[in-house]
Amino acid sequence: MSYIQTKRWNVNKSMNLQKKETDLQEAAAWIKQGKVVAFPTETVYGLGGNALDSQAVKEIFRAKGRPNDNPLIVHIAKREQLDALVTDIPEVAEKLMKAYWPGPLTLIFKASDQVPTDVTAGLDTVAVRMPSHPIARELLLESGVPVAAPSANLSGRPSPTTADHVWSDLEGRIAGIVDGGPTGVGVESTVLDISGPHPVIFRPGGLTQEQIAEIAEDVELDQALVTEGQAPKSPGMKYTHYAPKGSLTLVTNYLQIQELAAHAQAQGSRVGILTTENRKHEYVADFVFACGVDEDLTTTAALLYNGLRQFDDHQIDVIYSEVFPENGVGAAVMNRLRKAAGGRIIE
Ligand code: TXA
Ligand code: MG
Repeated sequence: MSYIQTKRWNVNKSMNLQKKETDLQEAAAWIKQGKVVAFPTETVYGLGGNALDSQAVKEIFRAKGRPNDNPLIVHIAKREQLDALVTDIPEVAEKLMKAYWPGPLTLIFKASDQVPTDVTAGLDTVAVRMPSHPIARELLLESGVPVAAPSANLSGRPSPTTADHVWSDLEGRIAGIVDGGPTGVGVESTVLDISGPHPVIFRPGGLTQEQIAEIAEDVELDQALVTEGQAPKSPGMKYTHYAPKGSLTLVTNYLQIQELAAHAQAQGSRVGILTTENRKHEYVADFVFACGVDEDLTTTAALLYNGLRQFDDHQIDVIYSEVFPENGVGAAVMNRLRKAAGGRIIE
């Protein structure tokens, strides 16, 4: 792939509002022109291109090295933009949008013929979300187009929660990055299919199942998330994702972790442990990462991908991770950890 000069707009701590405005206008103009630009959302950084420009969409797949059977989420800033993208808006979708948009909820609709097949990967449905991050909103409003955006990582790597993560994966491969500081939620949006008889969660994420059930009490989990060996309904969920370079194993009983770590070290491996602030000081290893605090799972979600990337930075070969409660956003945290562990779990 030929090298592309990547521009970085630092709107993060910019005290100069005029400068911030001009930077975002430039980034938005680039998107409108068909260039590919990374930007922060409240979940993770996205890699955005004009969703109605199939050349721009192809460029997104190329930059990430993403398999082309994995469809993209279309991001919008205004409810009116939805009508051109979909053929049908069920009542439950109206209620969910009213309650949770803008926010970390992606809805799957029947797609209109205006959506390029590159975006939907040939499916008859399209995923749409309205992000709440102020920079994402301003960029979307300013560009005036619906923006297709996967997470802004190289395919297979953990999603980026800082502009530095994006830079280390995609510098030289994309036109620009808007640095808006660390994202908040830390795991991707919840993908919810509302095109069938019941709402079905295809991917657990930032909006919890409990929150969805407040509006749609018949919400179900895709069977593939519950039973092993089932093909997931969301194409992206079948790939080994979110993985650090070292080999990760989940350990149900944390009391076993120190012994496992010592054993791996004795065999010459560089060993990492993923825990929380609550037990960080009980472990000795080459690198111990405290992923938030036990009392608040949102702190774990916010730091998870950062932690997985730090194991790489510390050249860790073998990682042992504690497991987390699966209520609330813990469902998304454990879904990502299981995938990152590729099935390695010590019960
Ligand atoms: O929080 C997020 O959702 C972030 C930010 C940037 O918005 N985006 C994100 O995109 O995580 P990506 O491409 O990394 O994940 C999109 C997921 C994939 O698992 C994909 O297969 C699924 O959504 N998806 C997209 N369109 C779909 C469709 N029509 N039917 C089923 N699954 C779909
Ligand atoms: Mg992704």
